[in-house]
Amino acid sequence: MQRMIEIDSPLFLNARELSSPADWPAIFGNDHPLALEIGCGIGDFIARTAVDLPDLNFIAIDIYNKGCYKTCRRLEKSRLANVRVLREEARQFVAERIPKGALAAVYINCPDPWPKKRHRKRRLVNSQFAEFIRDYLAPGGDFFFATDFDDYGIDVAEAMPAVEGFENRLAPDLYRHELEGYHLSKYMLKFMAEGKRIYFVHYRKTTDG
Ligand SMILES: C[S@@+](CC[C@H](N)C(=O)[O-])C[C@H]1O[C@@H](n2cnc3c(N)ncnc32)[C@H](O)[C@@H]1O
Repeated sequence: MQRMIEIDSPLFLNARELSSPADWPAIFGNDHPLALEIGCGIGDFIARTAVDLPDLNFIAIDIYNKGCYKTCRRLEKSRLANVRVLREEARQFVAERIPKGALAAVYINCPDPWPKKRHRKRRLVNSQFAEFIRDYLAPGGDFFFATDFDDYGIDVAEAMPAVEGFENRLAPDLYRHELEGYHLSKYMLKFMAEGKRIYFVHYRKTTDG
């Protein structure tokens, strides 16, 4: 059982109080493009990325209450105004709260690997998920996926070319082990310290998609 920590932060939103889809320009007070991090953990990646890209509005979601709490604290310490945090499940949140075609970028770093073969169908990212998220990306919107888990990385890298409406930004490679300019998350650093390699996958929704 998660011990629920009350999150009393102006950056934390309760999705149930939002319209469907949510009015993000009203929430952020501007109409900058939206970016979404799924599974933000403790918020280290989003905090750095939101500093780099002040003209994007970032939504960070995680189902983990303590992670959302830590993310809010980190963002408040950095005085970042272009991020909002929600404790939400990815697919449900996107379907209910994100307007189709609205996302300039989606970031998914080290999602739960479900290493046992019989649990693989629980993995978040696969070709069905890529097709689902494509509808919510703007034309030219970026899809980033990173994992330390070899067969998750290779499965996603090998599935993506068959998903219509995306172009591979790392071509001719299907994945890389380093991605210039991309911040390393807590889990990436932890796995790299254990000698593991990260698999980065980067696709862009085509402008005619
Ligand atoms: C292994 S951690 C990685 C955290 C962070 N991205 C990093 O790289 O340091 C995976 C995170 O994804 C969250 N998560 C797993 N499934 C999710 C889902 N369906 N929707 C939202 N968050 C999810 C977990 O709660 C956890 O915080």
